[in-house]
Amino acid sequence: MDVLLGLQWGDEGKGKIVDVLAPQYEVVARFQGGPNAGHTLEFDGIKHVLHQIPSGIFRSQILNIIGNGVVIDPIILKKEIDALGKFSIDFKSNLVISKKATLIVPTHKLLDAAYELSKGDKKIGSTLKGIGPTYQDKIGRAALRIGDILSPDFKEKYAILLEKHKLTLSFYKHPLDNLEEMERQFFEAVEFIKTLPLIDSEYTVNEALAANKRILAEGAQGSLLDIDFGSYPFVTSSTTMAAGACTGLGVSPSKIGEVFGIFKAYCTRVGSGPFPTELSDATGEAMRKEGNEFGSTTGRPRRCGWLDLPALKYSIMINGVTQLFMMKADVLNIFEEIKVCTAYELPSGEQIEKLPFEINELDAKPVYKTMKGWHCSLEGVNSYEEFPLPLKEYVSYLEQVLQVPITLVSVGPDRTQTILR
Ligand code: GDP
Ligand code: IMO
Ligand code: MG
Repeated sequence: MDVLLGLQWGDEGKGKIVDVLAPQYEVVARFQGGPNAGHTLEFDGIKHVLHQIPSGIFRSQILNIIGNGVVIDPIILKKEIDALGKFSIDFKSNLVISKKATLIVPTHKLLDAAYELSKGDKKIGSTLKGIGPTYQDKIGRAALRIGDILSPDFKEKYAILLEKHKLTLSFYKHPLDNLEEMERQFFEAVEFIKTLPLIDSEYTVNEALAANKRILAEGAQGSLLDIDFGSYPFVTSSTTMAAGACTGLGVSPSKIGEVFGIFKAYCTRVGSGPFPTELSDATGEAMRKEGNEFGSTTGRPRRCGWLDLPALKYSIMINGVTQLFMMKADVLNIFEEIKVCTAYELPSGEQIEKLPFEINELDAKPVYKTMKGWHCSLEGVNSYEEFPLPLKEYVSYLEQVLQVPITLVSVGPDRTQTILR
């Protein structure tokens, strides 16, 4: 099983690359996260955003698994499937869902909003999809799981969770407006989900491995949003790193082959939290415009900045990345000069290249290396050999510093705008 995951703060282009690589696999599986994810694919002039459905869904021979580590919102899943109606996908044979995946109920979304409001200007910037409260219930051993929807006492189980949530919501004085309508949609969607194959996906995954089938595990979010290693508390509530693929699918670490680490040629972040190389100036604005950096799930403008090498090295280390994929190189076409952060400088003048526990309080300023930009279009470039020299130099410099080969460079959102080395 190979794992593909984001090395920054999400939105690196995972959806595009899973779709590109999918023909080399028999199974594509999501292992964590939920509808907070927005994975964009573009092909044949169509642009499509997936939230919970794995990005192998457009390749008919592939089995797509939503694994046990995922949190599922049935309302959003039904909408996603409806939106795919025009592609004549056979969901009953191409998509299976783990019975052990956790269910997002309407009050999880209200709780997400209540917690965020109570934090004031210290809010996480959550996507408000109920992710944190749902994982909280999972770890607290109170959650409902997909398999529970098949149980005759599902409604009673739901009622117990609802009462618990209502108590918390009343503590936060959070209104229950619209709850009835949300519940109506929820139960309608639950009925629909019952018609899909709900399985013990850990058997499916391990049987596929035993039969020498190739599996690609598709990460959501990014390593710098990981619950343990991200910029806590400004993180998501799941294990976004390679190890999460083992717990989120029921696979032994010994079965992991390649770890594909995907990163943008610069950085973006949506939501709150530290971002040392953030550019709150015209350069950042130009990056956002050129890269169309607006959230795929919430539409929020993404914060933009130069590539952060200490952060990238950290992500490579905790994931054991074996190959790097560099995305959105074309967005840097507009710049005469390109900067990369090589270290952080502390107020004392000391330079560090690590991300210690205290990083948020250290007031670390990025130290930049300036490189010549290629400053030309990459339109029509089909191979690495055709890259302008400064882009080749950018790639080799990064390989030398990161000590991992960059085997793929993406030069546009379409499937075809992908250069393999
Ligand atoms: P994901 O969450 O990692 O799947 O990434 P998103 O889909 O949220 O965001 C990536 C965005 O960049 C999407 O709009 C993609 O269509 C787009 N994209 C992906 N690769 C490239 C690329 O190489 N160049 C450009 N310009 N856009 C890209
Ligand atoms: P993909 O898979 C970018 C961010 C949110 C917020 C923090 C916590 O498309 O890369 P949550 O809703 O998870 O409680 O929000 O994490 N976030 C993402 N940022 N891409 C994502 O997913 C994200 N999923 C969550 O903006 O800062
Ligand atoms: Mg995204």
